[in-house]
Amino acid sequence: MFKVNENFVKLPASYLFVDIAKKVSEFSKQHPETEIIRLGIGDVTRPLPKAVVKAMQAAAEEMGKAETFRGYGPEAGYEFLRTAIAENDFIKRGVQVDIDEIFVSDGAKSDTGSIGDIFDVDNVVAVCDPVYPVYVDTNVMAGRAGEYTEGKGWSKIVYMPCLKENGFLPELPKERVDVIYLCFPNNPSGVGISRDALKKWVDYALANQSVILYDAAYEAFITEGDMPHSIYEIEGAKKCAIEFRSFSKTAGFTGTRCAYTVIPKALVFNGVSLNKLWDRRQSTKMNGVSYVVQRGAEAVFSEEGQREVRENIIYYLNNAKIIVSGLEKAGFEVYGGVNSPYVWLKTPDGLTSWEFFDLLLEKTGVVGTPGSGFGVGGEGYFRLTSFNTKENTEKAVERIIRFFKA
Ligand code: MLT
Repeated sequence: MFKVNENFVKLPASYLFVDIAKKVSEFSKQHPETEIIRLGIGDVTRPLPKAVVKAMQAAAEEMGKAETFRGYGPEAGYEFLRTAIAENDFIKRGVQVDIDEIFVSDGAKSDTGSIGDIFDVDNVVAVCDPVYPVYVDTNVMAGRAGEYTEGKGWSKIVYMPCLKENGFLPELPKERVDVIYLCFPNNPSGVGISRDALKKWVDYALANQSVILYDAAYEAFITEGDMPHSIYEIEGAKKCAIEFRSFSKTAGFTGTRCAYTVIPKALVFNGVSLNKLWDRRQSTKMNGVSYVVQRGAEAVFSEEGQREVRENIIYYLNNAKIIVSGLEKAGFEVYGGVNSPYVWLKTPDGLTSWEFFDLLLEKTGVVGTPGSGFGVGGEGYFRLTSFNTKENTEKAVERIIRFFKA
């Protein structure tokens, strides 16, 4: 008889943000009079930079003419985009990354979710707790997570608690682990990591022959303090780390889809190059990102593109400030929101994350993300994003102050 992949059956029925969308849609049906403000999923609202739109229009025109039409592109991305990435995101910052270490894709979600394809099923995986659910769920799908216990998590995953007691920064695991997922500035807590703190992880990985999967999707939000934008700014990282980057939050590409992953050629284990394995995996399973989108991504690095991108980031960071100061005024304990679009708050009066989700939705029409959706360590916390418009952010904060300050 046909058998399904039982690992999928072990997963919760739906993905966190799908669950939330369903709940909100049900609430909306029951309360059509409530104007909902979405500060839940980290989805951007600012339109694409004009430089990007212009570049995509020109690329679409090229695709409509026989002389300039292009069919399949290189699976790992066009050289023009990989060169622009290497120069702007790395070489300008004093980090050497070669273009054949860069793999362009449709998203950091796909890449962080698929990277495990090239790892052994017996590798021990460590994640922060709370954590972006894709890292855990995809390891469950791969059969690397063991069994789930309510309130404890997956038996084979090593959880690194990130709580207010440790400044929401993970501590080095006591046991040896093979794969370590790190995301800074962090989703969901919004905290950044210092160079010194990140160096400890690189040293650990080098000493233990582990691989760090570094998700830098939010690096563009780093504005204060001496924080690395790339793990490769730390000495030795090219021997132990894979980095994921995205145009989604940086340049408003959540609906346009473009990202990239860096796999240094120095990442060789047991004589096998991870760069070569990923190249094999990608060229077998995908045909790359569309030419039009890659031209749009290239334009992000133009002078006009960079200016517009900066403006959008500042706009969102300003929203984050509005949320932080408003919540503080309403008496909440608040974290993040400085080098990050995410604000992380402690739920009041001992409410669970989901109880607070329901209360907030019912009393203010504001949608956020329950901390427990990011893992056991997120229970009692709640995430709000700064990606909505300034007007909606202000309105949401006013409603929160009105209800909770009373
Ligand atoms: C989030 O809300 O955590 C992000 O939008 C998820 C993502 O980038 O896939």
